[in-house]
Amino acid sequence: MALERTLSIIKPDAVEKNTAGAIIARLEQEGFTIKAMKRIHLTRAEAEGFYAEHRGRGFFDELVTFMSRSPILVMALEREDAVAKYREVIGATDPAKAAEGTIRKLYGANVGENAVHGSDKTATAAREIGYFFAGYEVAPSATN
Ligand code: RTP
Ligand code: MG
Repeated sequence: MALERTLSIIKPDAVEKNTAGAIIARLEQEGFTIKAMKRIHLTRAEAEGFYAEHRGRGFFDELVTFMSRSPILVMALEREDAVAKYREVIGATDPAKAAEGTIRKLYGANVGENAVHGSDKTATAAREIGYFFAGYEVAPSATN
């Protein structure tokens, strides 16, 4: 299996509840290395740009209002099979349907406010990392 990267966001609900540290600790325990990280407060337009694929869906307005209401933590994470493994660790979109022990089950409130985001494919991960980080802000693989 190849070393991969994925884009992780700790969403406003989790930052507001001070559960970001616990989520990051869990991700490190699961073998993810943080290659880049920052705290940002998205504007509505920036949230719309990030979730552009969902424009037109019934939940889009609610989603961008939520994602821009307070700061988020954005990370580029690396490990073997990172995209699939990260989604396994976070669990299903709706915390009520997520498996026991997953991050969304532990820290998510509902299908909208579900604590974390993760890229859905490796191609998406590259685009999403590029949305938030300039090249010089992301550590190369050979370093910690
Ligand atoms: P994400 O992109 O945030 O990692 O979540 P996901 O792949 O598991 O789910 P996706 O279908 O991409 O939806 C993106 C985010 O939109 C919100 N959502 N709300 N109210 C609803 O029915 C609904 N459905 C989705 C969630 O915040 C979801 O993570
Ligand atoms: Mg998604």
